Amino acid sequence: MRPGRTRAWTAFLAVVAGTLASTACTDETIVFRDRELFEEPLEAALGFVGYTDQSTKLTVCGNCHVGPQGQWEGSAHADAWAGLQDSGHAQAFCEGCHTVNELGNTQTTAAGYTATAEDRYHDVQCESCHGPGLDHVTAPNDGNIPLAPVDVGLDLTLGCGECHQGSHHPFAEEWAQSRHGDMYEGAQGREACQSCHTGAGALKAFGVNDPYIEEDSDLTGNHLSITCAVCHDPHGSDFEGQLRFSISVPNEDQNLCMKCHHKRGVPDPTSSRGPHSPQGPLLVGEAGWWPPNLDLGPGDIVATHGSDANPGLCAGCHVNSYEVTDAATGEFVVTATGHRFLATPCVDANGAPAADQDCADTGKNYEGCAVSGCHGSASGARAAMLAATLRLQNLADQVNALVAQVPASEFDTSDGKFTTGEGAKFNAGFAEFNGTAAHNPFLAEALMIASIQQLQSQYGLSVQGVSLERQLVPGGPLR
Ligand code: HEC
Ligand code: HEC
Ligand code: HEC
Ligand code: HEC
Ligand code: HEC
Ligand code: HEC
Ligand code: HEC
Ligand code: HEC
Repeated sequence: MRPGRTRAWTAFLAVVAGTLASTACTDETIVFRDRELFEEPLEAALGFVGYTDQSTKLTVCGNCHVGPQGQWEGSAHADAWAGLQDSGHAQAFCEGCHTVNELGNTQTTAAGYTATAEDRYHDVQCESCHGPGLDHVTAPNDGNIPLAPVDVGLDLTLGCGECHQGSHHPFAEEWAQSRHGDMYEGAQGREACQSCHTGAGALKAFGVNDPYIEEDSDLTGNHLSITCAVCHDPHGSDFEGQLRFSISVPNEDQNLCMKCHHKRGVPDPTSSRGPHSPQGPLLVGEAGWWPPNLDLGPGDIVATHGSDANPGLCAGCHVNSYEVTDAATGEFVVTATGHRFLATPCVDANGAPAADQDCADTGKNYEGCAVSGCHGSASGARAAMLAATLRLQNLADQVNALVAQVPASEFDTSDGKFTTGEGAKFNAGFAEFNGTAAHNPFLAEALMIASIQQLQSQYGLSVQGVSLERQLVPGGPLR
């Protein structure tokens, strides 16, 4: 191979993959090409082809894959080189993550920009994730398809995580410590659990049927966790932050977080199980068993936290980025990216999210609650959270004390009958979820108070010291 020689394709049949006409997804169009597309890359580039035309952002891949090309052009990745140059801090050390090379894909030795410093490798292009495409581009129909990883690797040396790491943007490091990056093993082998508990299962549930390296991981037992590309569209999207779905729609079918965080917000009459990831239904006021004496329609008790006052909804509290400076010198330490996904994380002496999340409440950072004037102060939010948590636990104790007096026959899940005992027990379960006091204390309390009344009237039970006035006012002041 010699530099400077131009490759051309001969007549190459128009291919429209899949059942294009019947789906809304037009990304799969592969267009007909019969012209010169790229210069032969240098040998040292190890098969990376880069741009056909840097000035118009036309990648070699994009000549045929017009869908991904169009999406990608509008993403920050397509401006990564300019962003670096315009920063005023550009230096050789910075270039790796702002160009096409061995970072982000399965290639491991110096290649592309790192090996040649050619302009055609500027920006984070297709091959940053898909790896070298020369073989595929030369003979597109002969296999050799450069598939991208969705995984980030255990040591964060693959995919998105290979660039999105380090003190200025430790997305990968924080994510790896979160439960999205470290899954509950028991749910993995089971089909019914995979749509929320594994990366491949979630992508399938989200309608992403495109091929990627670990596509069959759920079948091989080597399960993917909820990696970056589960939440983010790698090519670009209409939502901020390249997210696959909105974070601001209060709807469990459309909201990115609620798509998974809604498994059992209302009881399943055929099961004795309590709530399972009820955060979505709680936030939008649709969770729980509604006793007949509770004279409210579902959705009528929406906490301020689930309203327009908090446009980012789940992410508004759980994904907050802030800069951490040294408590003594004031110098930059790290940017907390919010990818630990905790609303009130335990923090270290400088205020950075700590690896260990077993701290006492006083070790937690409530600053996220005081941004944009939501709560007057972090300490006010902390006090409100503690008070609501105590009230919920107190009510749950009372519900459980009454439930213990209900005849066992009332808890038969095979009789097709859903009883007050079963419903009340389900509602008491909300108090056991860390965060219910933030997600919707008004609804949880109303459900438990109505449960107590219904248990008393239906079974003739009583318990000492139950005060049944509504203890919180929905929509009331947060402070
Ligand atoms: C000359 C046109 C052409 C170019 C340039 C091209 N591809 Fe392809 N690509 C194809 C064709 C045709 C297929 C379908 C091949 C098949 O199914 O055997 C394909 C398939 C793929 C697929 C699998 C798509 C699917 O839905 O199954 C991926 C991923 C892919 N290409 C990535 C790339 C990347 C990355 C580049 C740039 C390095 C690139 N392609 C450049 C024509 C091209
Ligand atoms: C080769 C390094 C590299 C890889 C691999 C990479 N990125 Fe990036 N990414 C960057 C750089 C550099 C930027 C900043 C570009 C700019 O704004 O100038 C960026 C920007 C972004 C942004 C926009 C951030 C903003 O501030 O608007 C998102 C979202 C993103 N990347 C997600 C991903 C995801 C998801 C993956 C994997 C599927 C990924 N990236 C893979 C380097 C990379
Ligand atoms: C380890 C990979 C990596 C290295 C090394 C790196 N960057 Fe980045 N850079 C990124 C990623 C990833 C983003 C996007 C992160 C985000 O949105 O927070 C980014 C974003 C940026 C942005 C923001 C772009 C914009 O449009 O807002 C600038 C500016 C930048 N980097 C400059 C630099 C400079 C200067 C250096 C060297 C001193 C450097 N980068 C080194 C990965 C890297
Ligand atoms: C940040 C990483 C990243 C970048 C940049 C990227 N891809 Fe992809 N691509 C992926 C991943 C991951 C998948 C599989 C999952 C998905 O489709 O969301 C994929 C899927 C594909 C597919 C198969 C499905 C489809 O959408 O047709 C094609 C073709 C493709 N990419 C081509 C491209 C081209 C062309 C570019 C550049 C214009 C590009 N990709 C840029 C990561 C990336
Ligand atoms: C693909 C499904 C899925 C999506 C999308 C999703 N989650 Fe999760 N999330 C999970 C699962 C599953 C767990 C529990 C994993 C485990 O413990 O094994 C979890 C755990 C969490 C935790 C506990 C974190 C910890 O480290 O203790 C929080 C908080 C959370 N998610 C918030 C969110 C937010 C906010 C969003 C939206 C930005 C979101 N999730 C999107 C499935 C998802
Ligand atoms: C559970 C879903 C989820 C996962 C998993 C996830 N993110 Fe994010 N990410 C988000 C949300 C939500 C935002 C905030 C977007 C906003 O504020 O509009 C975000 C923001 C970002 C941004 C900044 C975008 C911007 O516009 O400033 C980057 C870069 C990013 N994520 C990269 C990553 C990387 C890299 C990984 C994997 C290591 C990852 N994310 C994993 C949900 C997720
Ligand atoms: C609709 C999505 C969804 C489905 C389906 C689902 N889960 Fe979950 N599950 C979640 C989410 C989200 C969490 C994390 C939030 C929480 O802990 O409240 C979670 C949490 C868990 C936890 C607690 C994990 C921990 O680390 O503490 C267990 C155990 C669990 N699920 C088991 C299962 C099993 C077993 C199945 C299949 C029978 C299953 N889940 C199906 C969404 C789902
Ligand atoms: C008003 C802010 C707020 C909103 C909105 C919010 N949360 Fe929370 N959430 C919290 C607080 C505070 C906690 C207590 C523990 C913590 O700091 O994560 C919590 C706890 C959790 C937990 C348990 C974390 C653990 O480590 O045990 C999960 C899972 C969770 N929230 C998911 C969600 C999801 C999904 C949504 C959207 C449906 C959501 N949250 C909306 C503030 C909020």
